[in-house]
Amino acid sequence: MVQQKKIAILASGAGSNAVNLINRFNSTDSPIHVATVITNRVKAAVREKTEAMGVECLYFPKDEWLSGHEVVKALQERGVELVVLAGFLAMIPNALLEAYPDKIVNIHPSLLPRHGGKGMYGIHVHEAVLAAGDARSGITIHYINEHYDQGAIIAQRACPVMPDDTPETLAERVHALEYEYYPQVISQLLLG
Ligand code: GRF
Repeated sequence: MVQQKKIAILASGAGSNAVNLINRFNSTDSPIHVATVITNRVKAAVREKTEAMGVECLYFPKDEWLSGHEVVKALQERGVELVVLAGFLAMIPNALLEAYPDKIVNIHPSLLPRHGGKGMYGIHVHEAVLAAGDARSGITIHYINEHYDQGAIIAQRACPVMPDDTPETLAERVHALEYEYYPQVISQLLLG
């Protein structure tokens, strides 16, 4: 059997993308496997959800995210090749950026560079899109570097913004794009 490529998911919140990626990848015949989920929030809903699916969820407290060494050790011990952020709300430590150059990807729920940067996460992004009167929104999958949402863009997919959209209805449309395209882009990056 061909060796599976291992990925880790970093998440802080609800974890619906984490669940989607595990559903997509963690079958025996998949060439990609979610080896671990890692969180910085002790009570993140993602913990319970992914553990219920049989995937470990490691929690590291703030001081360990500041140095990053324990996180890097956990990733390397599990043979992780690609680090996948899915609603992860903390800075990535330098130790992790150095250990995984061009091997850390994020998904952002807008068409960057619109509505990125500090404070732009979750429902705040969709509120900003509506407040700006944008005709389109979507997703951006990009590499992570030391600046929020400024790493090289790998892929973008757009959806319309409807006149009667609320932040919640727009979020739902954008989430549907995330569920469809994040697994595809991860597969492309690892398998070509
Ligand atoms: C997603 O919209 C993703 O684009 C952003 O954070 C959200 C996470 O949602 N980075 P979930 O925790 O996967 O449900």
